[in-house]
Amino acid sequence: MIVGIGIDVARIGQFVDALNDPATRFLSTHFTPGELAYARAQAHGDAARHLAARYAAKEAVIKAGGRAEGLGPRDRQVDFREIEVINTAAGAPGLVFHGVVADAIARMGVRRSHLSLSHEEDLAIAMVILES
Ligand SMILES: CC(C)(COP(=O)(O)OP(=O)(O)OC[C@H]1O[C@@H](n2cnc3c(N)ncnc32)[C@H](O)[C@@H]1OP(=O)(O)O)[C@@H](O)C(=O)NCCC(=O)NCCS
Repeated sequence: MIVGIGIDVARIGQFVDALNDPATRFLSTHFTPGELAYARAQAHGDAARHLAARYAAKEAVIKAGGRAEGLGPRDRQVDFREIEVINTAAGAPGLVFHGVVADAIARMGVRRSHLSLSHEEDLAIAMVILES
């Protein structure tokens, strides 16, 4: 049974700015080392689009979380690093939850999550389905 869906869009240009600002802590406070490594390892030196898609995925998870304590849109304390985007060897994205977010997801009865990403020109989009 589907227990939550979420969708979000992010502007890639904002992540170009973050990548070009060595003083910002935004990247290290919102992305896991694995996500940053994935984005930087992709071809064309265009890490920003992969980060934008991952940011959209994290926001989409928060939307899909609905009113779950510790996860929903009203909870501004969500640590974005606790929502991690991974990729299979074939490139398909998936979600791994950690810490408080993992606890909230478990309380929702979620057993499977589904994620789809796309990026084109200056926009990245993510859709999430949480399933019990
Ligand atoms: C996979 C494919 C659908 C991506 O579409 P695209 O228009 O090139 O790119 P989009 O911007 O829409 O989507 C990119 C996202 O697709 C996702 N993606 C990549 N491979 C995927 C797969 N096998 N299944 C599901 N999603 C996939 C990734 O999340 C990627 O973003 P990320 O690298 O930041 O994680 C497209 O490359 C394709 O159809 N390829 C043909 C099959 C192929 O060559 N597969 C290669 C792996 S064997």
